[in-house]
Amino acid sequence: MKVSIIGTGYVGLVAAAVFADYGNDVVCADIDAAKIEGLRRGEIPIYEPGLSDLVLHNVDAGRLRFTTSNAEAAAHGDVIFLAVGTPTRAADGAADLTYLLQAAVAVAKGLTRPAVIVDKSTVPVGTAERITRLMAEHTQQPFIVVSNPEFLKEGAAVDDFMRPDRVIIGTTDARARELMRRLYQPFCRTSDRMIFMDARSAELTKYACNAYLAARISFINDIANLADAVGADVELVRQGMGSDPRIGNKFLFPGVGYGGSCFPKDTRALIDTAREHGLSLGIVTSAERINEAQKLVLVRKVRRHFGEAGIGGKTLTLWGLAFKPNTDDVREAPALRIVQTLLADGCKLRLHDPVAGPNFMAQLGETHGAVTLHDDPYDAAAGAHALLLVTEWREFRSPDFERLKAIMAAPALFDGRNQWDRGHVNSLGFSYAGIGR
Ligand SMILES: NC(=O)c1ccc[n+]([C@@H]2O[C@H](COP(=O)([O-])OP(=O)(O)OC[C@H]3O[C@@H](n4cnc5c(N)ncnc54)[C@H](O)[C@@H]3O)[C@@H](O)[C@H]2O)c1
Repeated sequence: MKVSIIGTGYVGLVAAAVFADYGNDVVCADIDAAKIEGLRRGEIPIYEPGLSDLVLHNVDAGRLRFTTSNAEAAAHGDVIFLAVGTPTRAADGAADLTYLLQAAVAVAKGLTRPAVIVDKSTVPVGTAERITRLMAEHTQQPFIVVSNPEFLKEGAAVDDFMRPDRVIIGTTDARARELMRRLYQPFCRTSDRMIFMDARSAELTKYACNAYLAARISFINDIANLADAVGADVELVRQGMGSDPRIGNKFLFPGVGYGGSCFPKDTRALIDTAREHGLSLGIVTSAERINEAQKLVLVRKVRRHFGEAGIGGKTLTLWGLAFKPNTDDVREAPALRIVQTLLADGCKLRLHDPVAGPNFMAQLGETHGAVTLHDDPYDAAAGAHALLLVTEWREFRSPDFERLKAIMAAPALFDGRNQWDRGHVNSLGFSYAGIGR
């Protein structure tokens, strides 16, 4: 099938590479000319396991190409995906649809024959209808707008796209349903995981999923803080809870709060949609409030550790800057709030992340030498008065604690992801603080 993708980010590039890998003829467009030039040279703009090989292989095979022209992409596809960003609008927390509406107009103007337009971006209920009305002002060609929200997880995006838990297809148009079924059939060979519904329900399903997962994380963080207060170990509580099949053990890990490009903005956008309809979403609103406080749980623990002496002038090391492991995405990463707060406290910071360091420093901006980035985790820890584990990359699970002890200025560990064994590190002479333990 001829497939076009508008937007070459974490979702668009993965979708394009995977659709091409399944034999489709794919054109991928972006308004970011530097990104497209880089891709044409074989440079992959994001870190995502398996993605680079997939892109290069399918470009070589002639099934995947890149353009800065949305019109060219519009003329190519039988199916045209809109996969541009829908960030938070600063004024009210709603989803900012500027990029999406621009892309829709550009596609409408470029249509040369009937097409199915697929909204893959996460958008408020009613957006498919809004795009339909807008595009109709700019084209005479017949088209249908389908909602097809994406559920891939950064860090496992290629695998998720190839083996989706479900494919939500929001349209009541029979021909569009048939086309979408044909496109996704190769991804659902073992069992039919396509769920058809109307566009509004599809749009709401995406937000409901993210809000629910965010609420689970905030729930267990709330329980973790209570465990700290009452002297229980949330890791045991978590296991006890998760063994109940009605609850399950996924997304029940206490930590420094959720970040990333989806949960924070999608919970805010859902709250805004409810507000527009005169409703308040109590659980989602609380999840967001708890999460904002949770991002600074390690900072509170570090301040308490140093007590009256204060933390001004201390050298602290952070391991992990990405919002989660296996990605270089630092959007709304808890590490940003932690670093900004510790800087305001007068600390010197030594940072390490396996891949997200450069993105993080660019996001952080000028720090007048108070922050240094290190390629090696032990370099980063040298001379530190405390080490904070913020992102649970696998390589941080079993570090050489004896080496750490020898190079740090003081043996204090703050484990924001409950990765380390308190008994073991205590026996080596470290003080240890986890979350809810
Ligand atoms: N990142 C995820 O894990 C994820 C998962 C599921 C859903 N989503 C949703 O998918 C959408 C895209 O997210 P993302 O993380 O891939 O965003 P991204 O910021 O990584 O990429 C968006 C791309 O769109 C391009 N763009 C903007 N306006 C354009 C236009 N008019 N024409 C062509 N290109 C344009 C940008 O230059 C950018 O490269 C969002 O709505 C997001 O909520 C993201």
